[in-house]
Amino acid sequence: MQPSFLVGIITVSDRATAGEYEDLGGPALRLACEDRGWTIGPEAVIPDDIDRIQSALRSFCAQGCGLILTTGGTGIAERDVTPEAIRGLMRVEIPGFGEVMRARSMEITPNALLSRGLGAVVERSLVLALPGKPSGAVECLGFVAAALPHAVKLALREPTSC
Ligand code: MTE
Repeated sequence: MQPSFLVGIITVSDRATAGEYEDLGGPALRLACEDRGWTIGPEAVIPDDIDRIQSALRSFCAQGCGLILTTGGTGIAERDVTPEAIRGLMRVEIPGFGEVMRARSMEITPNALLSRGLGAVVERSLVLALPGKPSGAVECLGFVAAALPHAVKLALREPTSC
């Protein structure tokens, strides 16, 4: 049986929050998680604002999410602050997530170099910061998905085989 855990999904986008365009990243990630047998928990669309990102992360942690996915705000535009928000809360960063997401994405687009996507442990949740483009977010999730069940168990401090 597929391991299951609660997944929270946060779309970080000023424009999606303002209704200037439809949030496509959150629903794309939800589908990708459901396909893997993971249980979807809370979802939010919030602006590119450190305080708002951090309070959404804290709330999702309190709701028991083993995995929290963010999409958006990983680039180098002035309002891109998702990595800073996560780093302000995390216990540890797991550099392999960012390394693999960028390296594998470079085979698809050279612009992958511009994403500061990362993986980190915040409270008892594994947090993954994925790029904002829906296809990019789903691609990056796919590149690291095999490691997630074990990483989530460790973040949740559940007994594991290693
Ligand atoms: N990674 C993948 N796999 N596919 C993509 O299309 N887009 C890139 C990059 N990473 C992309 C990707 C682009 S164009 C940017 S600007 C950065 O992610 C940052 O995006 P963000 O600021 O929306 O998070």
